[in-house]
Amino acid sequence: MRAVQITDLSGPDSALKEVDLPEPEPSHPLTPGSGVLIDVHAAGVSFPEVLQTRGQYQIKPDLPFVPGSEVAGFVRSAPEGSGLVEGDRVAGCCLLGAWAEVAVAPDFLTFKLSDELDYAQGSGLVLNYHTAYFSLKQRGRLSEGETVLVHGAAGGVGTATLQVAKGLGARTIAVVSSDDKQRIARQAGADEVVRSDGAWKDEAKELSGGGVDVVIDPVGGDRFTDSLRSLRENGRLVVVGFTGGSIPEVRVNRLLLNNTEIVGAGWGAFVMGKRDVNREIGEAVNRLVDEGFVRPIVGARFPLEQASEALRLIDERGATGKVVLELR
Ligand SMILES: NC(=O)c1ccc[n+]([C@@H]2O[C@H](COP(=O)([O-])OP(=O)(O)OC[C@H]3O[C@@H](n4cnc5c(N)ncnc54)[C@H](OP(=O)(O)O)[C@@H]3O)[C@@H](O)[C@H]2O)c1
Repeated sequence: MRAVQITDLSGPDSALKEVDLPEPEPSHPLTPGSGVLIDVHAAGVSFPEVLQTRGQYQIKPDLPFVPGSEVAGFVRSAPEGSGLVEGDRVAGCCLLGAWAEVAVAPDFLTFKLSDELDYAQGSGLVLNYHTAYFSLKQRGRLSEGETVLVHGAAGGVGTATLQVAKGLGARTIAVVSSDDKQRIARQAGADEVVRSDGAWKDEAKELSGGGVDVVIDPVGGDRFTDSLRSLRENGRLVVVGFTGGSIPEVRVNRLLLNNTEIVGAGWGAFVMGKRDVNREIGEAVNRLVDEGFVRPIVGARFPLEQASEALRLIDERGATGKVVLELR
């Protein structure tokens, strides 16, 4: 089968190589001896793969390896009791190995894909939308009618968070860095859009009538303290990622003085092996698909052999919505 490997740690321009590999057995490291074998139609591209080409991501497999954690395609074979059968359209999270014509995902991270979504959209579903739901609902304790501020709002996690928040009945304020990203955030359903290079904290406080209830932050970096300042009493700042480059530090007296919280949301670590939690999130996301709230925005599509360009787009902060490799 055709696949792309990370062969060294020299970065997006030179670390990737197109290769011909034997097809994998239906066994996933998280479920040894068992796994859903998937004919890959589309694979997601995300920030962690950029980091993996530099050896900077927390998961550091031995070189060379096939990256790619997100996959959409149809089932070739599935374990008994998984609820999946040959021929089902599915979206899955396989951690590694998605940038290939055939991939294996654990059954507890593989979900039926609605006919409302194409394979490219499906490849942006599990990682981003499950993270969005987990961050907003389970970690951020979002209630209907509350206001959510979303950083990096035109990105993969950002657009997913805007759509899921709307589906949960929240009002949304998007923070973005350019006109193009402003347009994407609106397309994802943002009620308000503010600019990261402007007075976004003051604007957010004004737009929310004194402060937002929840901040979803996949960016981190310098804006963290202002994110805390933008919360109202009982507000929750949910830490999702650090695309801004630095991991923020905070003086915790701010939390005491304003009665606010900082909450971590590590979707992958939380849901691993927890079938009930994954089923609950999968059903909630699929319900939001059925209700029309969830429609992954595919911002760029590349053939497998142009995976380097896909990574560069993300690395240079040019990506909007989901970046996808199309294999068939
Ligand atoms: N916690 C979890 O469970 C979990 C799950 C999935 C992903 N993540 C993490 O969430 C983060 C976002 O992932 P994503 O797929 O949404 O990424 P993405 O599509 O590339 O979007 C990230 C956004 O970050 C903003 N940004 C600010 N400074 C940046 C910089 N120096 N370089 C690049 N982008 C910068 C950009 O928005 P502006 O230009 O508008 O500022 C960009 O749109 C990543 O760190 C990822 O690892 C966490």
